[in-house]
Amino acid sequence: MLKMKNNKIGIFDSGLGGLSVLKYLKIDVPGYHYLYLGDNARLPYGEKSSEDIYRYSCQAMDFLFAKGCALVIVACNTVSAQALRRLQQKYLPLNHPHKKILGVIFPLAEKFAKQNRINRIGVIGTKATIASGTYENEIKKINPNVKIETKSTPLLVPLIENGWLKKPETKMILKKYLKPLKNKQIQALILGCTHYPFLIKDIQRIMGKKISVPDPGKIVAQSLADYLNRHPELNLKTKNKTDISFYTTADINLFKKEGEKFLNSKIENIKKIKID
Ligand code: DGL
Repeated sequence: MLKMKNNKIGIFDSGLGGLSVLKYLKIDVPGYHYLYLGDNARLPYGEKSSEDIYRYSCQAMDFLFAKGCALVIVACNTVSAQALRRLQQKYLPLNHPHKKILGVIFPLAEKFAKQNRINRIGVIGTKATIASGTYENEIKKINPNVKIETKSTPLLVPLIENGWLKKPETKMILKKYLKPLKNKQIQALILGCTHYPFLIKDIQRIMGKKISVPDPGKIVAQSLADYLNRHPELNLKTKNKTDISFYTTADINLFKKEGEKFLNSKIENIKKIKID
């Protein structure tokens, strides 16, 4: 029997949000085989307990590692905030000691904390991400002088997943969420949820030109490229070709319809799976 190659890179998100990272990986980190898993059936993770988020994430990791991933990027901020440490310290040593799981909060926090001229940063995210305090902790570890203003914005994920990007109701809710942060004189805003970059133009318009709103997908892609360069021993490169396979726990057609808009390209290789 042919032995499966364990050279794939998993991208895990609770839904379509991780496509905001994959969009940049395709361009900035080509030549790998990516397996994207969206647990759309159980979204939103941001409203779930830590225990549930950890349990769902272990099931997702089991699936991705069984499919031949050597490394998984937890694109989802909520999972990075609530479950990453346990995944790395408990789940991996017990189940897959030779595999790797990376999150997105540390690279983002590092990028923002190291910008000298910025000393007041805003963070928006799901309830679970904001409640965890992970962004504050990570930023303060690098730069204790930065002041951080956080706000949970829980209505955004369901609006985005259901394709309500352009609706006036979405713009109204965005304004309501963002105006108080703007009034706190922040200089930069972290989009602490993979779904939010799909609204980046509206967010930037509301925040105004003076507040920087970088696209986190680009920062995460850069950080993965650096990681892969530092770890040539992983040997994950394919022969110059980028392959992407998609898995969702919910409806394939909805994933394709909304996902193609977010990814700016066709979604071909997609399967519906059960991971619970
Ligand atoms: N996309 C996820 C994140 O980055 C959260 C969405 C959800 O609540 O499931 O936090």
